[in-house]
Amino acid sequence: MTKANSRFPLLQIFNNIGYYSMKRYIFLLVILMLTTLQVVAQTKNEAFVPKAVWNDTEGKPINAHGGGLLKYRGKYYWYGEYKVGETTLPSWATWECYRTDVTGVSCYSSKDLLNWTFEGLALSAVKDDPESDLHPSKVIERPKVVYNKKTKKFVMWVHAESADYSKAAAGVAVSDTPQGPFRYIGSFRPNDAMSRDQTLFVDDDGTCYQFSSSEENQTLHINRLTDDYLKPDGQYVRRFIGQAREAPAVFKYKDKYYMITSGCTGWDPNRAELAVADSIMGEWTVIGDPCTGIDADKTFYGQSTYVIPVNPKKGQFIACFDMWKKKDLADSRYIWLPIKINRDTGDMKIPWMPKWTLKDLKN
Ligand code: DGJ
Repeated sequence: MTKANSRFPLLQIFNNIGYYSMKRYIFLLVILMLTTLQVVAQTKNEAFVPKAVWNDTEGKPINAHGGGLLKYRGKYYWYGEYKVGETTLPSWATWECYRTDVTGVSCYSSKDLLNWTFEGLALSAVKDDPESDLHPSKVIERPKVVYNKKTKKFVMWVHAESADYSKAAAGVAVSDTPQGPFRYIGSFRPNDAMSRDQTLFVDDDGTCYQFSSSEENQTLHINRLTDDYLKPDGQYVRRFIGQAREAPAVFKYKDKYYMITSGCTGWDPNRAELAVADSIMGEWTVIGDPCTGIDADKTFYGQSTYVIPVNPKKGQFIACFDMWKKKDLADSRYIWLPIKINRDTGDMKIPWMPKWTLKDLKN
């Protein structure tokens, strides 16, 4: 062994394997690098393609259904029902209450709304306590997370259900970090009323409200929450009385409040409805179906879950819908579409777009 080669072991290896073998190794190395680069390039999402499988940054399908988003320190966090395993219809079922076992609430993070990194389960199932709301035998739906500036806590509300959907309660969990783990506090019926499909909305003054389908899903309740966002403060209103609205998604534009809801047809799609109000606890006026284009009368086969305020001052919002696959809930897909706002008239439409980018948010 020469002195120079002992200082450079790699050269020694090349000497040993010979010039032609070395060329072959370098060739293989280049091929390997190119393949890796190609795989990385493949997993980068460049556009929103509603109804397609959306992969996370590891190339795995994003699993966050009935979800909601939170923007915190320049990053978006997407929370949703983590649906894995077989979809079953219980033997006692008298209606289509297809379900998967509770596994928890997932959390993904992203800076561009297109490429999502799996952060793990923000709230996990509790396998060893059959009484827990988080036991696999139960149902956990529509998680929404908000940040409380006063307590500096992240607060999650979920629809906590029994397998037969008779519990109709809201569950609350807290965390010090956006990705969790969240600590489950417990469940209750807000203001002693049923609570199923639900969402949270924090107004500009920091007051948080829970909107939920109540009274056997026939009437929507708007519950104002305490300053810590952990429970109702006792003030609530009943709206859309007897109108059977579900899946509320709330946003604010130019000092008015808007709410997209669905009708009440189990996992099957129906027509969406947009409503507007001057104040959250005030009167809500139905505007009509904002969806336009092919299958608009069925919300493009989706159901509302959240509206992302990307740039509310400029009227840039994304309406998020779930496309449920009731017999294979884990393969349910996402339909995200820009809300098109006429800046002069305030008219809002959600046109069907098979593929779009953030540039399409400009009105
Ligand atoms: C419609 C709701 O919007 C969903 O979240 C889910 O609860 C299904 N009903 C169950 O049928």
